[in-house]
Amino acid sequence: MSKRYTITAALPYTNGPIHIGHLAGVYVPADIYARYKRLTGNDVAFICGSDEHGVPITIKAKKEGVTPQDVVDKYHAIIKKSFVDFGITFDNYSRTSAKIHHETASEFFKTLYDKHEFVEEVTEQLYDEEANQFLADRFVTGTCPKCGNEEAYGDQCENCGSSLNATDLIGPKSAITGNVPTLKETKHWFLPLNKHESFLREWILKGHKKDWKPNVYGQVKSWIDDGLRPRAVTRDLDWGIPVPVPGGEGKVLYVWFDAPIGYISATKEWAAHEGKDWEPYWKDKDTKLIHFIGKDNIVFHCIIFPSMLKAEGSYILPDNVPANEFLNLEGNKLSTSKNWAVWLPDYLEDFPNQQDVLRYALTANAPESKDNDFTWKDFQARNNNELVAIFGNFINRVVVLTNKYYDGVIPETSEFSEIDTETLATVKAYPSVIESSIERYRFREASQELMNLARLGNKYLADEEPWKLVKTDEARTKTIMFVALQIASALATLSEPFLPFTSEKLKRILDIDTNSWTDISTKDILLPSGHHIGKGELLFSKIEDKTIQEQLDKLEASKKANEAANKEVEPQKETITFDDFTKLDMRVGTILEAEKMPKTKKLLVLKVDTGIDTRTIVSGIAESFTPEEVVGKQVTVLVNLAPRALRGVESEGMILMTETPEGKLVFVNPDTTVNSGLQIS
Ligand code: 2FM
Ligand code: ZN
Repeated sequence: MSKRYTITAALPYTNGPIHIGHLAGVYVPADIYARYKRLTGNDVAFICGSDEHGVPITIKAKKEGVTPQDVVDKYHAIIKKSFVDFGITFDNYSRTSAKIHHETASEFFKTLYDKHEFVEEVTEQLYDEEANQFLADRFVTGTCPKCGNEEAYGDQCENCGSSLNATDLIGPKSAITGNVPTLKETKHWFLPLNKHESFLREWILKGHKKDWKPNVYGQVKSWIDDGLRPRAVTRDLDWGIPVPVPGGEGKVLYVWFDAPIGYISATKEWAAHEGKDWEPYWKDKDTKLIHFIGKDNIVFHCIIFPSMLKAEGSYILPDNVPANEFLNLEGNKLSTSKNWAVWLPDYLEDFPNQQDVLRYALTANAPESKDNDFTWKDFQARNNNELVAIFGNFINRVVVLTNKYYDGVIPETSEFSEIDTETLATVKAYPSVIESSIERYRFREASQELMNLARLGNKYLADEEPWKLVKTDEARTKTIMFVALQIASALATLSEPFLPFTSEKLKRILDIDTNSWTDISTKDILLPSGHHIGKGELLFSKIEDKTIQEQLDKLEASKKANEAANKEVEPQKETITFDDFTKLDMRVGTILEAEKMPKTKKLLVLKVDTGIDTRTIVSGIAESFTPEEVVGKQVTVLVNLAPRALRGVESEGMILMTETPEGKLVFVNPDTTVNSGLQIS
């Protein structure tokens, strides 16, 4: 039965392009779901847009010496293009700087204000005296009181996902000046989440515990169990939507208040454009509202936004919030600031027209229930061993043989054998097999079922061997090719949500456009005898090791360049006199023995021949070298440093080394061996 679906995908911040983590975590699964819902005859509004307010954008603008508007204009265009390039079929991709959004968000705020749903309070907030600015959200970092992460932001800790108030941070530091903030009084409007606790408990914990993903349900439950507190929904900033009530001058709405309302305003914009009524998509209780997000957005979509919707009173609540975990890249966290990412525009430059390969690799390895790693080797294997060797190979054989034997015309059949009937019945069952995975938001599993259908086709051809039978049994060969063509046709339709570009190509090759998802399970014949198919086209091509190595080298190079760019050279120390310098007695020393200091990670106890004597030096180099590695090495030793005891061992000098950008210590002595005791001057 046809239903109405409002499907939203997290609005990306417009402070940079998007990378594979965004695609894998949110946009590809959301697109698979939306395409599948449309293919199965539902009324779908698939909504997204740029999140253009918030501190990350102002920080980026400051850094680049441009206005926040310049930043959002630039990245809105880049991001929007990436979505089109990768076949993400939003019905509307809007932006939160749009007039309709400012109006919708202001109106929403005013409604809650008029209903006395806010608590208005003057509180002490963090303030940077030098920058003359209140510090909220990403303008302030500090230690998370929940997990101890030292880089938590003023509104959220990305390590444990906790939602924070800036004043919760331990040891807060301004992200603008690095200064320790002071406290200053200011007025804000708070959404009293505590007031909504019993509703949330009832709605999520009782109503949804069966069908929400365990990671989402678990996080929400633990927040509710921890106790909810009022949350400020306004900020002392100048970039954002002005607070539309008396006393709101100079203040804006908190970005996480306005951004989810962006889903509503983008729906309004779309409906106006299409001549539809937007309200049923947000207010009809039969509409299913589904939010696709990453795990760092769970609290906002499962607690704060539903509380806002509930407080407003006329909206439906999300039916499900299928949040994904994070995708790592080659073993490390994806990071925009460290440039450890595969950016979508770069991918397309290096792999033109291969969007489906990335969509498939990211889906087959999606971080659905735990964080996962994207590796270029896995990407290559998914392409070569699955898309090329299974899917592409099957289609190629069917199309080439049909053209070769029958000039591209689907042959007449004779009687079906048992295996034919069984195979056709299995094909008919595939829509519901794939559907069952998608309905449970298991897109990895669904993509593997699709590949199993191609496997079935390959196995059928390999078992029936039409290329052998063609010489002896023309009628049987025709039937085999007819069956194989039905599988190819089913693949053309069922692959659409996962591999939209390939599906389109395949439909063109087979010259079909009419089959729907349900046709596959209900119709006996998808491609009738007498139908003409077109010429073959290569669906996928093998990716060579060299290409993968180039990507790995590129990643490594960008990491190095980034480290070099970010490396802060220590400022020069205070000037010393020549006499001061001559006081330092530095000699060439040879390490004779080394052993680890018990119960420490960093310390080695060395016996060093200084030429003057053999002495004990305790050195903090154990994380860079094993004792065996340093024995026999020559080092520079500061021999006249006053002895001091380290962990009860007297250290009589210091060895000098340097540290690479990766934090590894290295010896900087000449490569020729010299006598111990030589002076360094
Ligand atoms: O985490 C982010 O990238 C946010 N810009 C997501 C916003 S989702 C929504 F609520 F708008
Ligand atoms: Zn934390």
